[in-house]
Amino acid sequence: MKQLSIDSTIGSSLILVGERIEHVLNYIPKNKKLAIISDDTVISLYGDRFPKADVVISVPQGEANKTLQSVERMYEQLLDAECDRSAFILAIGGGIVCDISGFVAATFMRGVDFGFVSTTLLSQVDASVGGKNGVNFKGFKNFIGTFCLPKFVICELSMLKTLSPSELLSGMAEVIKHGAIADPDLFTYIEHNPQKVLRYDSDALERFVYDSVIIKSNIVNLDARENGTRRLLNFGHTFGHAIEKIAKLPHGHAVSVGMVLAARLSALHGSLPQAAVERLTALLNVLGLPSAVSIPPEELLAAMRGDKKREGSAIHFVLLSEIGKAYVEKISFTQLEHYIHDLC
Ligand SMILES: NC(=O)c1ccc[n+]([C@@H]2O[C@H](COP(=O)([O-])OP(=O)(O)OC[C@H]3O[C@@H](n4cnc5c(N)ncnc54)[C@H](O)[C@@H]3O)[C@@H](O)[C@H]2O)c1
Ligand SMILES: [Zn+2]
Repeated sequence: MKQLSIDSTIGSSLILVGERIEHVLNYIPKNKKLAIISDDTVISLYGDRFPKADVVISVPQGEANKTLQSVERMYEQLLDAECDRSAFILAIGGGIVCDISGFVAATFMRGVDFGFVSTTLLSQVDASVGGKNGVNFKGFKNFIGTFCLPKFVICELSMLKTLSPSELLSGMAEVIKHGAIADPDLFTYIEHNPQKVLRYDSDALERFVYDSVIIKSNIVNLDARENGTRRLLNFGHTFGHAIEKIAKLPHGHAVSVGMVLAARLSALHGSLPQAAVERLTALLNVLGLPSAVSIPPEELLAAMRGDKKREGSAIHFVLLSEIGKAYVEKISFTQLEHYIHDLC
């Protein structure tokens, strides 16, 4: 097992890579009411390994249920189980379960302590690390939420073996993002070992999770509230969130297309050689991740206008200057309109 800690302005969190769910009670204070939040798939796969709890709440699956309505139902279930401010919330699941549970924990009775057992690659490498939580609102992704860190995040690697290939790849898109913005060695390792990804190789998975958590925690330690450096983690996400909304692709698959568009925008902007765009596209394609979708450019632009990263008539884009190096550039919608036909 490997441990890492996040010590940031929004609090501290212990990340345990390779820990097992059976040890979770070692990290939860004794004599607390325990509320578990999970979903039906995770409960059917791993419910027999959950610790004994006062209540187990199942979140309806899918992005469409990551809403304030679900949050309200969860508050009611917590109240029915007589949970109060001294309760502990344990989320066991992927990014949706962790995002919505973190929000419920941060707001129920002005906040209760919580921890995660993160069960998808996407949530281990990204969603459960860094303290962002929240729900979608009026069709916009993660529009309502807080910054609030879980006490701990357990990343049990063996749970990743039951992920579908599509879910595994969704997480791999975020791992490739980490390589593209900050870790050229990780990027090259994936390029040299695509078959290890597709075979769920244990050593490779451990490296993806651990290296990603190092990159993400270093960035969060510097800028937890996303005023500067943390924006780099949004590489591929401005296009990605718009694509996710329109094409209804899984998060990582939409981010995969978003990264290609952001790399092409970097090339049009003159900062990234075309060969690097092709390298990124080739890596995503060899793993089976998409690099393009058919969406009318006007529709893509309209969806990006609703992005919460928008500032007036411009939007902060994360661009690349090389594989492993990213920077943030404010691009106006007028400039974007100019580029969009070359991009799509
Ligand atoms: N807060 C953040 O910083 C952050 C970062 C990235 C993504 N996210 C969010 O994460 C969400 C996507 O996360 P996700 O892809 O993990 O979604 P998810 O939670 O919906 O999980 C995907 C599917 O995999 C199933 N599953 C979970 N663990 C499994 C396992 N071990 N074996 C088999 N199946 C399993 C789930 O039941 C679900 O059907 C999005 O809502 C995205 O916005 C948040
Ligand atoms: Zn993401």
